[in-house]
Amino acid sequence: MAIVIGITHTKGGTGKSTTAVNMSAGLAKKNKKVLLIDFDQQGTTSKFFGVHSDPEQNDTVLNLIESARYNPKNAILGVSDNLHLIPNHPFLNGYEPALINRENVNFFLKRQIDGLRDLFDYIIIDTAGADSYLFLHMVLRAVDDIIIPSKATNADLGELSVIYKNIALAMDDNPALVQPKLLLTQTISVSKKQKELIQEIASNQGVASKLFKQTIRNTASLANMRFKSFLGEDIGFVGGDVFSSDPGSPGAQDYEKFVAELMEMQA
Ligand SMILES: Nc1ncnc2c1ncn2[C@@H]1O[C@H](COP(=O)(O)OP(=O)(O)O)[C@@H](O)[C@H]1O
Ligand SMILES: [Mg+2]
Repeated sequence: MAIVIGITHTKGGTGKSTTAVNMSAGLAKKNKKVLLIDFDQQGTTSKFFGVHSDPEQNDTVLNLIESARYNPKNAILGVSDNLHLIPNHPFLNGYEPALINRENVNFFLKRQIDGLRDLFDYIIIDTAGADSYLFLHMVLRAVDDIIIPSKATNADLGELSVIYKNIALAMDDNPALVQPKLLLTQTISVSKKQKELIQEIASNQGVASKLFKQTIRNTASLANMRFKSFLGEDIGFVGGDVFSSDPGSPGAQDYEKFVAELMEMQA
């Protein structure tokens, strides 16, 4: 039975997609069967695996929210033996107005994800920043755990109150959200005072926060991961993850240790 983990933050550019991609590839390297779901219409995660979303494509993340019409299993692409991807759809956010008044819409994603749990050890969901609170709240109800990547700058830590507040709002529906996990990324230095500030911001919003011991350095190996940036360029399923694009680099080392800490936490 899969553990379902959402990678979320209400802020953009915090390292969500970089974490989703490398965490999924790192777990797959540890022989775990992983499904990575790209639930961001920008499709950053998909492009790291050479999939440039096509507006005409039928089997995408839309299968997970348009349940009456599509089968989620049809949207699963094989990246490698252990790693599978459900790609984004470039018009995902356009579906929000049609969905918003549907009964129990917050649980649509959960229903579909639960139907995939038997097939994987981990299901990782990458989400957008503040683009859609409907989709954020769907994710908050579908998961067993939340990982929030954040920079350790004071300006970015201040933004944490927004995601913690949203988690607190979803907690009645999903008690599993009791202790979201924070991963500091793109770090230059992290002070003791900043770590204390994180705990304080979380408890002010009514959630407990757990900080991963491992942090992810600000490093060129992560900034330069292979990426399918425009239509027509065919890089196939080479995997832009840091283990493929720059093995042994600082980024690969940090994400490998982070994955080990995560697996230990869940053991
Ligand atoms: N640890 C890191 N070191 C250097 N660059 C990073 C690191 N993590 C992410 N980046 C870069 O920062 C930008 C934002 O990261 P991304 O993962 O796309 O954030 P999000 O998904 O939260 O918007 C991207 O250009 C990415 O390549
Ligand atoms: Mg992203």
